Amino acid sequence: MNENPTPTSEDGRRRGAGPRINRRIVLAERPKGPVTPAHFRLESAPVPELIDGQVLVRNRFLSLDPYMRSRMEDARSYAKPVAVGEVMVGGTVGEIVESRHRRLAVGDRVNGVLGWQHYAISDGTGLRRLPAGDSVPLSAYLGTVGMPGVTAWYGLNRILEPVAGQTLCVSAASGAVGSVVGQLARIAGSRVVGIAGGEAKCRLVRERYGFDACIDYKAGRLEADLAAATPDGVDMLFENVGGAIMDSVLGRMNPFGRVAVCGLIAGYNGEDISISQVRSILVNRLKVQGFIVSDHPDVWPEALAALGAGVSAGTLKYHETIAEGLEQAPGAFIGLLAGRNVGKQLVRLADADEPEIRPC
Ligand SMILES: NC(=O)c1ccc[n+]([C@@H]2O[C@H](COP(=O)([O-])OP(=O)(O)OC[C@H]3O[C@@H](n4cnc5c(N)ncnc54)[C@H](OP(=O)(O)O)[C@@H]3O)[C@@H](O)[C@H]2O)c1
Repeated sequence: MNENPTPTSEDGRRRGAGPRINRRIVLAERPKGPVTPAHFRLESAPVPELIDGQVLVRNRFLSLDPYMRSRMEDARSYAKPVAVGEVMVGGTVGEIVESRHRRLAVGDRVNGVLGWQHYAISDGTGLRRLPAGDSVPLSAYLGTVGMPGVTAWYGLNRILEPVAGQTLCVSAASGAVGSVVGQLARIAGSRVVGIAGGEAKCRLVRERYGFDACIDYKAGRLEADLAAATPDGVDMLFENVGGAIMDSVLGRMNPFGRVAVCGLIAGYNGEDISISQVRSILVNRLKVQGFIVSDHPDVWPEALAALGAGVSAGTLKYHETIAEGLEQAPGAFIGLLAGRNVGKQLVRLADADEPEIRPC
């Protein structure tokens, strides 16, 4: 990652000092294949003065998510790509440190999509004010009680419609989405089989999240292990990966099964993710539906209430991998795409990175 030569006097604007300095990571170059640190650039710039109707948010945690890989490409998709030179897109939680907004006050904790940076100016659009004084940790609003949790909730309840006693299979099972899918399905009475990379992740899936079984697809016996773990076949597939993993589960589907296509991470670097088990869709009369969680704002309040209650009560468990400091974000993102994260991948935007006030 390059760092621009902009002077970085970090004096706070408060108490008559100079402007606050924002540190941000922008897209330096579009990847053609695997992402490397050279695709990002760290920049520093003064935070502009607010105008009426705006707030200044100090981001505390940044979420790293697989969808960011697609946004780095200039390809037709469901969302606009990040422009070269623009701040990388990303979900954040933080607090308002200045306000010229009528309904948002200094001290309010907010969740938004404010990007890979310490500070962001917002007119409030898309900001979600977080409950004050609840028992949900701030970071969880980017995971189980945030976009990944709602994704799990939507795909499970609105597409797969779990039935007690039926078998659900979920890939990337130890991750931010997969771990919630499996736990919610277990609560609904389904038998849950996860697929994850490595025995350590599989142990987490079984022991912490309570899945009935978990298959380590890296062990090289995917088809045989899947057959052994699903003696009655598979009724519901929550697909996060695609390619060979999706194919092997399609081969185990029962008649009138349902498939929620949530993500195809195996193909995010341009790898082949073709489906060879297309016949299963026909002969088993499967319902196969892709979805994008942001298309369904109507379900977010209900889903977030249920997920928040589950986390508060301890019935929904989660695990986080936290990178310390903004400059670690590119490496952590590259690790996420290689499966090095365990659970929700976050970046803590620590004060040590950028003191908010320096004495003049
Ligand atoms: N449709 C939507 O609205 C929506 C919203 C959010 C997320 N998603 C999708 O949901 C999926 C999971 O997202 P998440 O945030 O929960 O990520 P995550 O599971 O926390 O992290 C990604 C995981 O994917 C697995 N992976 C990466 N490359 C792989 C490959 N080539 N083959 C197999 N597995 C691979 C790795 O786990 P292993 O070590 O187990 O391989 C990695 O840890 C992604 O596909 C994402 O794009 C979709």
